[in-house]
Amino acid sequence: MNGAEPGELAELAIAVAVRAGRMLTSQRPPGGPHVVGTKSSPTDVVTEMDRASERLIIDRIRDVRPGDAFLSEESGAVRPDTAPPDTVRPDTVRPDTVRPGAARLGTGTQATPAGALVRWIIDPIDGTVNYLYGLPDWAVSIAAERSGRVVAGVVYVPGRGELFSAVRGGGAWLRRESAEGSHAGTEAARPVHCNSGVALSEALVATGFGYEAARRVVQGEVVARLLPRVRDIRRAGSAAVDLCAVAAGRVDAFYERGINYWDHAAAGLIAEEAGATIAGLNGKVAGPDLLIAAGPGLFARLHDLLAALDPERDAPT
Ligand code: IPD
Ligand code: CA
Repeated sequence: MNGAEPGELAELAIAVAVRAGRMLTSQRPPGGPHVVGTKSSPTDVVTEMDRASERLIIDRIRDVRPGDAFLSEESGAVRPDTAPPDTVRPDTVRPDTVRPGAARLGTGTQATPAGALVRWIIDPIDGTVNYLYGLPDWAVSIAAERSGRVVAGVVYVPGRGELFSAVRGGGAWLRRESAEGSHAGTEAARPVHCNSGVALSEALVATGFGYEAARRVVQGEVVARLLPRVRDIRRAGSAAVDLCAVAAGRVDAFYERGINYWDHAAAGLIAEEAGATIAGLNGKVAGPDLLIAAGPGLFARLHDLLAALDPERDAPT
């Protein structure tokens, strides 16, 4: 199918994610990257390196597949190279400004733009604040959608020398870089599986917080009510890494309100292929309102506890 088999898309995503991750590691300025802008709040930053990573990823994929579309954190919806330029910044977009054919943002349910067979969902650095501070949990995340469905996902975590990948129906895989830091694809990949049958009271639950104070007020209330009911809470600073941690059984569950499609498109498939359930509240698909990920047995219990805490709200401003 025009070279758009999920396995081929995954291989391209792996090559490009590794290249971007290496560039981000080798070219990170010694004093930290330069903040070039802010988005939803003064602490929601974009650095020169987020933009450089995004450019590299889109350019490399376009070299190979010029007819594909993109949805990327810093540029928003980018139409195929073969169509007229159409770039919409995600932080400035309003529904009435989205032109026909351009992907709408954040939900992941819109069709791939006309003429494009594949849409790539990109987070050039997930965990930008960790990258800014020199902490290891940040990732390059690349997913490939066909007909609006993610069929391949790659999350590369250079700070840990780990590459997670999945093709729909093919399980979830982890490759480690060798000590010499050689190509992430050169070591044998091993399958990963999420934990199953974990009791809520014994669950290690990861979560994250948005950048806006009104959202954090409620997120703080919810996590305070959850804490006495579970083993413990973790906040690593990258939703993509958190979801891969669910996939690898390093935590038992993850939930967060307010994450964007590019945060979870690739890692969500990886967690799903590792056996986790990913959904929103009360049968909704996972999305900006809420995403919950957990293995068999735990998902329903965590879901019901969260539902009782009414987590899909923000404090009045
Ligand atoms: C953020 C990280 C963080 C999560 C935020 C995301 P960014 O993405 O995934 O863990 O709590 O909701 O926005 O800004 O680093 O790409
Ligand atoms: Ca992100």
